Amino acid sequence: MRNTPKVLGIETSCDDTAVAVVSGGSVVLSNVVASQSDMHFQYGGIVPEIASREHFQAIVTVVDRALHDAEIKSGDIDAIAVTNGPGLAGALLVGVNAAKGFALAWDKPVIGINHLEGHIYSSWLEGMNPEDQAGFPLVCLIASGGHTDLYLMKDHGVYCTIGRTRDDAAGEAFDKAARVLGLGFPGGPEIEDQAQHVSESRISLPRPSIKGSLDFSFSGLKSAFVRAAEEAEFFPEKRIGRPTKQEIYEFAHEFQEAVVDCLVRSSIAAVNSYGAKGIILGGGVAANSRLRAKIAEICPVPMFVPRPGLCTDNGAMIGSAGYFHTIRGITTEWDMDVVPNLKLAANISIEV
Ligand code: KG4
Ligand code: ZN
Repeated sequence: MRNTPKVLGIETSCDDTAVAVVSGGSVVLSNVVASQSDMHFQYGGIVPEIASREHFQAIVTVVDRALHDAEIKSGDIDAIAVTNGPGLAGALLVGVNAAKGFALAWDKPVIGINHLEGHIYSSWLEGMNPEDQAGFPLVCLIASGGHTDLYLMKDHGVYCTIGRTRDDAAGEAFDKAARVLGLGFPGGPEIEDQAQHVSESRISLPRPSIKGSLDFSFSGLKSAFVRAAEEAEFFPEKRIGRPTKQEIYEFAHEFQEAVVDCLVRSSIAAVNSYGAKGIILGGGVAANSRLRAKIAEICPVPMFVPRPGLCTDNGAMIGSAGYFHTIRGITTEWDMDVVPNLKLAANISIEV
């Protein structure tokens, strides 16, 4: 183990202060996540100023804990990888400055990682290896609170964007639906939990698509959901009415089915259109068991998806991506800055 490179991965792009130690890009020696969800819950969404303050208060303790859990000392670390975008500027700044500080103090290189590339590399953790088990090219569906993108990964570090949401992200839509039903934040796990109580629903929602494209659109679906709630005469967000338990189950069920159908349709079309050898799922929405089951059921190529705890934001995915940068000799300059709207790859599109 001594000679296998160990990377400390730091992730603070949104509302989780997350730090992990990853050995050889795959073995997770420690994985600490200090979640702020309870803090943001009362506001029904993430408050950027609160996120930065919480990261600032937690970061040193979380780094110490990650080293302690991994049973290693700072000298055993080979590099420090940190998310430098996309995300909330103030939140990213805490992670990037902490990473630079530790790197300077411990005399280690620092590597800036795109958060979306991190979600892709979650599928290299804990023994999975899409390259060896399927091969390139791979289609990657990354669906989170801020993004819903389809990438074609042609090799390590070589990506094209082949689909993306034209408006809201899938996770954002889950969060909105949960608010409409008076459920907690983040909304995705709450909706999934309620949906499993029933196997059908009396409401029917659209499955919007963009003709001839792999792109997604969730804003129309969101509005249709709000209209259905108003027709049923409840809207807890505006303190009007209350859905019954049965209504919550059925609304959650149909909403989850609609979002999952949209994600599955474009993902499978992407696999077929680009002749992909495998599909990677990542991002918080990939924790959804209905999405995982539907893709596994109909996808013609192997599916790679991390366990739910590694789908949502974590430091291990950043550590893994950092390892794959390091072994390709890619370094980052000390003047690296945060880039809140950082892109992973240029868009390409084919008629589908
Ligand atoms: O990747 P992530 O942890 O943070 C971002 O980069 O945004 O994703 C968080 C998003 C939230 O919108 C949350 O509601 C959604 O992922 N999510 C889920 C599930 N778990 C988390 N959506 C659907 N089903 C889930 N089980
Ligand atoms: Zn994320």
